[in-house]
Amino acid sequence: MTAIVTIGTKRLRLRPFQTTDAEAVHRLAGSQDVAAGTFLPHPMDRQAAQDWVTERLKDQAAGTGVTFAITLLENGELIGSIGMELVLAHEQGRLTYWLGHDYWNHGYGTEAVTALVEYGFNSLKLHRIYAPHFHTNPASGRVLQKVGMTHEGRLREHYLRFGQRVDVELYGMIRNEFLRLKVGKKGIADDHG
Ligand SMILES: CC(C)(COP(=O)(O)OP(=O)(O)OC[C@H]1O[C@@H](n2cnc3c(N)ncnc32)[C@H](O)[C@@H]1OP(=O)(O)O)[C@@H](O)C(=O)NCCC(=O)NCCS
Repeated sequence: MTAIVTIGTKRLRLRPFQTTDAEAVHRLAGSQDVAAGTFLPHPMDRQAAQDWVTERLKDQAAGTGVTFAITLLENGELIGSIGMELVLAHEQGRLTYWLGHDYWNHGYGTEAVTALVEYGFNSLKLHRIYAPHFHTNPASGRVLQKVGMTHEGRLREHYLRFGQRVDVELYGMIRNEFLRLKVGKKGIADDHG
């Protein structure tokens, strides 16, 4: 079982999901444009949203995943989800994330992914964190680039989504790269501070 924590960032609070979040998950993740970049069930009725939350809580309890509700620090509103599927035998995590459509392009995705990457390396002591994204979803790739991940390649026609074969872009970061990135950022802060 992975420890249940809350993570604060400049504008966000990442907190554990609760069963009462299913209504917000239904409203936000039920839309086609959010589902299109993910493997969220679609169409997603209220029961599917409830099941989705329950599965995340089970994964958390089993130690096979961590998932956080992304909420706004200013008012507690739930705006999305971020998590990692964990394979602890290999000390690795696979990132998954989504935001409600109204919250795209405000930098929240980058802020949440940055926090999860830090949590994965610092608290979970992972060796590798990676994220595949559909080739048709460049915004997700941009987030991973901004976080400092390396583009590791393209998996051709890797998944079937909505009846279409999709290429997948693979991004990853290993512990040494994370540590170097941290030292670099600290160096910049020290220079100015
Ligand atoms: C992917 C997602 C989480 C990004 O979150 P976000 O908060 O919008 O991301 P940010 O605002 O931090 O950054 C988005 C970046 O993508 C860029 N972008 C947006 N749409 C783009 C497009 N069509 N093509 C290229 N870049 C695009 C933005 O300009 C921004 O880059 P910039 O800061 O250099 O200008 C969000 O779009 C989402 O939830 N999508 C649906 C679910 C999903 O696809 N999840 C990812 C599964 S791998």
